[in-house]
Amino acid sequence: MKLHYRDDSHLYGWSSAFGRNIIFTLTLIALGLSIFFQDKALGLAFADVSAADHIGYMLRVTARIAFFLLLLAMIARPIRQLTGMGGELLRHRRYIGLSMAFVHTVHFGYVVAFVQNSGQALELVTIIGGGLAFFLTWVMALTSNNTSQRVLGIWWGRLHTFSIYYVWLIFMNTFIGVLLTESNVLYIGIVAAGLVAVSLRIAVRVTQRFKRTA
Ligand code: HEM
Repeated sequence: MKLHYRDDSHLYGWSSAFGRNIIFTLTLIALGLSIFFQDKALGLAFADVSAADHIGYMLRVTARIAFFLLLLAMIARPIRQLTGMGGELLRHRRYIGLSMAFVHTVHFGYVVAFVQNSGQALELVTIIGGGLAFFLTWVMALTSNNTSQRVLGIWWGRLHTFSIYYVWLIFMNTFIGVLLTESNVLYIGIVAAGLVAVSLRIAVRVTQRFKRTA
């Protein structure tokens, strides 16, 4: 069976628009609540939160929210194909991806603030590796529409598949790095979730290939 990437969410009218608005609104609420409760999360009085504290905290928050949304978008099709459930998730995958791109752009904003505030020079490998991840995220966001899908044809799927795996790899590389230095159980959960998402995608690929050759 041919893999089909087309997003038909536009065919579902108002219910799709409602779902899209809910996803975008919840993303903004998650970011707003993160800032509102930063004093509790950092264990400081609000007035004592320095610019450096705020920037470091928001870098971690935005990375975690963006990774969560990336994984949701990654598992939408495998869940549908493996279980027959999750039609709504798959139908709203485009908006989940766009929310991820938005939150990742906020991470980029805090990266700029971090560099300015800390005066720390970035290594070339970080600029290239991280820069490419941001670039691919924005390319995916800009091509997440029916016209781009039609114009790019088979290359649309290739571009998005490559970009998703590259961005996933940079996330995993960073989370595993933090896990190795901090040994925090939270990061074991995050890394495990990342591996489960990719395993589901591989499982679906293998099943499809097996069906084709059967
Ligand atoms: C040049 C680009 C980037 C720079 C300079 C940068 C910088 C940072 C900094 C300073 C932190 C906070 C570290 C801390 O205080 O614990 C952070 C966290 C993080 N960033 Fe970025 N970042 C960049 C790009 C990216 C990209 C492209 C991704 C993913 C695709 C990413 C994923 C993460 C993750 C996963 C964390 C850790 C979150 C956590 O500890 O829970 N970063 N980044």
